[in-house]
Amino acid sequence: MSTVPQFFHIPLSRRRLVRGLTLTAAGLWAPGAFAELLTLTPGMTEGPFYPDKLPLDQDNDLIRVSDRTSPALGTITNLSGRLLDKNGGPLKDALIELWQADDHGAYLHSHGDSQGTRDPDFQGYGKFTTGKDGGWRFRTIKPGLYTGRTRHYHFGITLKGGEKRFTTQLFFAGEPGNAQDGVLRGVRDEKQRASVIREFKADKDSKELAAAWDIVMGHTPGDGDDHDHGPGPDGPPPPPPGGRGIPPAGGPPSAR
Ligand SMILES: [Fe+2]
Repeated sequence: MSTVPQFFHIPLSRRRLVRGLTLTAAGLWAPGAFAELLTLTPGMTEGPFYPDKLPLDQDNDLIRVSDRTSPALGTITNLSGRLLDKNGGPLKDALIELWQADDHGAYLHSHGDSQGTRDPDFQGYGKFTTGKDGGWRFRTIKPGLYTGRTRHYHFGITLKGGEKRFTTQLFFAGEPGNAQDGVLRGVRDEKQRASVIREFKADKDSKELAAAWDIVMGHTPGDGDDHDHGPGPDGPPPPPPGGRGIPPAGGPPSAR
C-alpha cells in the first residue's frame, strides 16, 4: 500500500508516461490521452451517520459554528483538491459534502454520540460547490476515533444535474487501524485503495494539518449518472441532499 503523496492519483507507469510525453512533444496530445493513467476514486458505503438532521450552519468551515463563540476541539485540518472526470477534466458546480466524527469520535446524528460527549462547537457536516477548475476545500479537524473503524472522513459528491450521491471515504496514511478497517479493506483494487489514503502534513508554525486529494469520477459530462466505481454503498442510494451549495467556489472558507 503506497503512502507516497499522490496529488493527481497518477500511477507512474513508465512506458505509458513516456508514450504520453512523446505524444505531447509531437503535438499529438488530445483530451483523453492520459485517461488511462487516472485512478477512479472507489465508491464506499455512506455509513450510518450521514446527519439525520442537517445543521443550520452548513458552510465549509467546520471548526466554527455560526451561533457559537468557541472553535471546535481537535487538530485543525485543511482539506482541498479537485473533482475530476475520468479524463482529468474539471467537474464544476458539483456539490461536495463532508461529514465526520468530532474530536471525541461522535457524529452529528441522533445515534452518533453513544457516550454523550459530542462537541457542540464542531459543525459535523459541511458542503461546498466546486469551482470552474473543479476545486473544493474544507477547514475542519482531524476526525476522532470510534469503535470499529480507523480514522476517516466521509464524502458525498452530487454532480450538477445529477440525482445520485456518490459516497466515498478518505483515510490517513500511517494510521494503525487502516490494516484492519473493513471498509478500506473492502476496496479490492490496490491502486484505488492507495488513492483514498493521503499524507497529512503538519505546518511547522501553526501545527495545522493539510492534505490534498483529487476525486476522480467515472464520468464525463454527457455520460449521465455513471458513478459505478466498484464497491458501492450498501443498499439503494439515498435521496439527494437538500439545500444549496455555497458559493463562491474556490474562495476561502467563511469565518462562520
Ligand atoms: Fe464513519
